[in-house]
Amino acid sequence: MTIPPVYIVTGTPGTGKTTVSTILSEKLGARHIELSKFSIENGYVIEDDVERDTKVVDMDALESAVRDIIEKSVSPIIIDGHYAHEFIEEPLISFLFVLRKRPWDLKSVLEARQYSSEKVWENLESEIMGVITGEALELVPSSKVIEVDTSGQSPQETASQIHCMIESGAAPGNPIIDWVAHPETLRLLLSRPCTL
Ligand SMILES: Nc1ncnc2c1ncn2[C@@H]1O[C@H](COP(=O)(O)OP(=O)(O)O)[C@@H](O)[C@H]1O
Ligand SMILES: [Mg+2]
Repeated sequence: MTIPPVYIVTGTPGTGKTTVSTILSEKLGARHIELSKFSIENGYVIEDDVERDTKVVDMDALESAVRDIIEKSVSPIIIDGHYAHEFIEEPLISFLFVLRKRPWDLKSVLEARQYSSEKVWENLESEIMGVITGEALELVPSSKVIEVDTSGQSPQETASQIHCMIESGAAPGNPIIDWVAHPETLRLLLSRPCTL
């Protein structure tokens, strides 16, 4: 069985995964699977977690459907979702891109989505701490994990940057992004409303 190249595009919500994956899929002639949309369309959402303002997905069913698509596809596949790194078997992954965005820029993107304040801050903290990169590095060898800072870039620039890495088959030396050391992060955290 020949497996097509599989590219994971993960990252905190609002970092640009879907926008970049859409452009990248045109450049690569790839099939783009946006996991949240795909789960809703195929009935894999099992619960609406109102408290956390999120949907609970049947991961086993989703995993098996995505694996089926990968096994049958002749064209490359882009899997886009903030949990995309968690369930694709590592040997199937060609590269895993973690999109990052300055937390102080991400805030307005999340607020524009009308997320609750809790959900905005949950995601900002996750981005500040680099939670998704940490999870990805536990599951996938570091040679396949590439962080991409989208801050100050257009979606086209980010998609071209990723396209170049894929075409050349090599990632540049990839220091892990650290937002914690930035004074803007401290300022952002100090602006957090008290919820007590
Ligand atoms: N360099 C960039 N790459 C991708 N999206 C960007 C970039 N800069 C700004 N954006 C904007 O960020 C917003 C969130 O993008 P989206 O693709 O919906 O994120 P996600 O799928 O990660 O939740 C969009 O309005 C998009 O146009
Ligand atoms: Mg998206």
